[in-house]
Amino acid sequence: MDRVLSYIDQNQDRFLQELKDFLRIPSISNNAENKKDVLRCAHFVADQLRQIGMQQTQLFPTSGHPIVYGEWLGNPGQPTVLCYGHYDVQPVDPVDLWVSGPFDPTIRNGEIYARGSVDDKGQVLMNFKGVEAHLKAEGKLPVNIKFLIEGEEEVGSVNLDNFIADHKELLSADVVLISDTPMFDRGVPSICYGLRGLVYCQIDLKGSSSDLHSGSFGGTVINPNFALAQIILALKNNEGRIQIPGFYDDVQEMTPDEKQELSRLPFNEAKYQKDLAAPALFGEKDYSTLERIWVRPTLEVNGLCGGFTGEGAKTVIPAKAMAKISMRLVPNQDPDKIADLFERYLKQITPAAVELSLTRMHGGKPWVAPINHPAIQAASRAFEKAFGKRPVFVREGGSIPVVATFAELLGLPSVLMGIGLPDENAHAPNEKLDLYNFQTGISGSAHFFNEMSRG
Ligand code: BES
Ligand code: MN
Ligand code: MN
Repeated sequence: MDRVLSYIDQNQDRFLQELKDFLRIPSISNNAENKKDVLRCAHFVADQLRQIGMQQTQLFPTSGHPIVYGEWLGNPGQPTVLCYGHYDVQPVDPVDLWVSGPFDPTIRNGEIYARGSVDDKGQVLMNFKGVEAHLKAEGKLPVNIKFLIEGEEEVGSVNLDNFIADHKELLSADVVLISDTPMFDRGVPSICYGLRGLVYCQIDLKGSSSDLHSGSFGGTVINPNFALAQIILALKNNEGRIQIPGFYDDVQEMTPDEKQELSRLPFNEAKYQKDLAAPALFGEKDYSTLERIWVRPTLEVNGLCGGFTGEGAKTVIPAKAMAKISMRLVPNQDPDKIADLFERYLKQITPAAVELSLTRMHGGKPWVAPINHPAIQAASRAFEKAFGKRPVFVREGGSIPVVATFAELLGLPSVLMGIGLPDENAHAPNEKLDLYNFQTGISGSAHFFNEMSRG
């Protein structure tokens, strides 16, 4: 590994330049006006894959944004690692809160600020460079590698499951490597072994056919804003418990061992609250903060609107109201079943005087893995060698729906070696990535390929 590690050392400046080039491309998958930029970014990824020595590199068009694939299969007899990541990013609004432009990567205090720096371009490039170091310094990799980098993760990976189902042979491997999660804390390298799933819905309520004068009509028809408030109130009680009948039926409780491991982690609740600048913490009764994020499902109202919100006062009864509602799921909750339960309950609690329509948006299954899996142990040794510290095993509250797909369609275990930090503002203004973690993560990635090799 010496030559590999010194190659990484000697090429840090160029790696950083390449990261900046990657970050300058506004590959916002959600915005139609960025479609060309997303395509340009796919080509950037493909060029990277060719430069680092992939033998087959290809863009696969989808009905949305392309999937980029590349492979190096020059070590028959060794395992094959399928490395997944995403090159698309979240929208940047509110853009005036950014200290430097979201697509003008800028370094301040050892952190690079740009949309996509931590989620997920920096972590994707980290694995590219881990591979490059082996191929350029040794002329070969200790394993075989396939890269699958998509451009639609932030919009629900809508075309990915079909692509995987249609390319089982192309994607056959022994293990999946993903770097798209945060570490537990600064200086605490972490391996993630669990993710929550997701169900996302929109509720539209319609009262009258048009807004009405609240003097002439107030008191005679339902106000959709009121109906929406009634519905939302019925979804959770004051102790944070979700009221949908059957919602908790399939929730897998933690084993006593896991509960004990979790309570040993260096988690400081007071600091957590202070960092959020929240007046108090709130969540489901009888569970700790970490349990609430990692092993308990939740229901959130992501946004709502209805009626007059402009300047001044306007006496009006709105014709309609809307809410975006999502639920984070834990093993063994099934997104389709939960969406059905939600719909049935919603119909029950919606006042009869209003017309309801429910739109199901994207979703994903929850996932949890046994930490004694050999590939997860290899990841742990790799991070220990790179960071000089034994990593902790964590679960996460976020979702990467394809992890369950890899297990179901390809029968593959996943290893989540993320190097983000919890305060790096993923999805928010001033997203950033710690450059020490980026650089050390490259060595971690290189070590992982070594640890995965059968010797
Ligand atoms: N990298 C995140 C997933 C993540 C976030 C994992 C935090 C662990 C902790 C990913 O890019 C993401 O944002 N996922 C979406 C999924 C959705 C669009 C289907 C999420 O979790 O909201
Ligand atoms: Mn991500
Ligand atoms: Mn994301």
